[in-house]
Amino acid sequence: MQIWFNIIYYPLEKNIYEVNALKRIELLLNDSVFNSHMQRNAEMEIEPQFCKHDIYHHIDVARIAYILVLEHNDLNYFVKEAELGGKLAAKEVIYAAGLLHDIAKWKEYEYGADHAALGARIARDILPRVFFNPHEVDIICQAVYEHRNISRDMSFLGERIHRADNLSRVCTKCPQRGICPKVNSKEITVTNFEY
Ligand SMILES: [Fe+2]
Ligand SMILES: [Fe+2]
Repeated sequence: MQIWFNIIYYPLEKNIYEVNALKRIELLLNDSVFNSHMQRNAEMEIEPQFCKHDIYHHIDVARIAYILVLEHNDLNYFVKEAELGGKLAAKEVIYAAGLLHDIAKWKEYEYGADHAALGARIARDILPRVFFNPHEVDIICQAVYEHRNISRDMSFLGERIHRADNLSRVCTKCPQRGICPKVNSKEITVTNFEY
């Protein structure tokens, strides 16, 4: 029985890991420019009055955006609509947008810049370093820009990142809720706990 287990299941299990390996996301998380911006965000939020824009927030938004796509069975649609190479490329594009969406938050603290617009510009420099192609870079940067610059004709990914960003914050239990300037633009219901 044990022999059969090794023969039949081990190759399958190995294959699953290989198929799901987000290699470009691993490179992004280890990229020096990416990490220098995350460090600047951390320095500006040593004593935060409101929500932090740290790596945990970025990963939350990436995961929630991916869940939003999956739970509506939209991954194949996204691959086709965005003309991506396949499901793995689509997952990496979604995660990259989530991981980069607030990368310029520190510049907003520093001099009031639009962190979404500036973040899109910074992302455009980082993404080719971790092997996203020019077409994927355009899709990701548009979503980073749109996460706080919403419009009627937003991109598919921009809408998901915007909603995932709102869903990622647990405003219902926040002691700053009464004075938070963003509280009225969030989905503050039990919906937050579904993701
Ligand atoms: Fe943001
Ligand atoms: Fe955010």
